[in-house]
Amino acid sequence: MAIKVGIINVTGYAGAELARILWGHPEVEVVSVTGRSEAGKKLVEVFPHLACYDMTVEPELGPSVDFAFSALPHAASAEACAPLVRAGVPVVDISADFRLRDAAEYSEWYGGEHPAPDLLEAAVYGLPELYREGIKATKLVANPGCYPESALLALAPAVEAGIIAPEIIIDSKSGVSGAGRGLKLNLHLGEAGESVSAYGLEGHRHLPEIVQELAAMWPPIEAPGPSKPKVTFTPHLIPMTRGILSTCYAALVAGHVPAGGAAKPAVREIYEQFYKDEPFVRVVEAPPSTKQTRGNNMCLVYPTVDVRTERLVVVSVLDNLVKGAAGQAVQNMNLMMGFPETMALDTPAVYP
Ligand SMILES: NC(=O)c1ccc[n+]([C@@H]2O[C@H](COP(=O)([O-])OP(=O)(O)OC[C@H]3O[C@@H](n4cnc5c(N)ncnc54)[C@H](OP(=O)(O)O)[C@@H]3O)[C@@H](O)[C@H]2O)c1
Repeated sequence: MAIKVGIINVTGYAGAELARILWGHPEVEVVSVTGRSEAGKKLVEVFPHLACYDMTVEPELGPSVDFAFSALPHAASAEACAPLVRAGVPVVDISADFRLRDAAEYSEWYGGEHPAPDLLEAAVYGLPELYREGIKATKLVANPGCYPESALLALAPAVEAGIIAPEIIIDSKSGVSGAGRGLKLNLHLGEAGESVSAYGLEGHRHLPEIVQELAAMWPPIEAPGPSKPKVTFTPHLIPMTRGILSTCYAALVAGHVPAGGAAKPAVREIYEQFYKDEPFVRVVEAPPSTKQTRGNNMCLVYPTVDVRTERLVVVSVLDNLVKGAAGQAVQNMNLMMGFPETMALDTPAVYP
């Protein structure tokens, strides 16, 4: 029998994408969807593309759900998730609320006190490629941010193998849906169209999440300089709807990979081994483009070496609303509920 699932805040981009993906899930029945300003409307009135659902948007989640997703903004999300988790309902939180393990760091980056600091210890960071067993065993998953997901999947094999120095540069580009559905001047077509801009240069909120996770896997390496990662992360807004492309740079540690032209195949081998059993990460033969993952749950990773500077360069692409949000959340639910990990997610990208 299908489990009864609730989506808190179906009316944002991430919530709507969850509803779209869950429609194709054979073990799930979506029984309750919530939204604030659209409460009382039929879901099809808000989102004509979700006409498959005959449901009304409710102000609060119905009482009898077996599993819940929250796609609320931060702070509101932890407040909504906490009573469910305390009542034993498994939850995937797509917001940032349970990603940072330290409540003081959360306050520093997100402002205000954490709404449920007592639950931080129970939360597992929802990146199956790093934390699969923990995800299976928990009732509260903190779904990764879309930028961190792309950066961590690009860097994890190199970090775990101990082949890069701690100074890392992550240059990321995101489509406008990454900023959500709310009206903002910089997202208007006339502002964002035919233009590219950098933002968050003095410290984007995803930076502490990236550093936390890189530090957690950082091996002791005999390299000069700091023994923990020092990350420069620069996000850019680009005029497309979906997709993130991250290019990550770090110096190779002398002696840890062969010099010269042999470095590239050696690095590639490390990446292929790391991801050989992963259903949603593929090490590709040529630099990928965001369109290759549009609408599906894949992350494509292209590692190479700039032999002139002895620097690792890794490009990763994913769809911020799928592997970067709703698809990742469903993958996590599959693990938490003991369903096949790829259920409802094993679809090709939309092309062109
Ligand atoms: N977009 C992405 O690519 C992406 C990726 C990964 C994670 N996320 C995370 O997913 C969550 C949702 O993001 P999104 O992009 O889907 O946002 P969104 O499209 O902007 O939707 C957020 C909606 O939440 C409602 N809302 C705002 N404050 C609220 C509150 N206090 N209580 C109840 N409803 C409230 C607003 O709707 P009304 O004003 O109409 O009520 C707003 O339109 C965020 O935590 C975000 O960080 C997003």
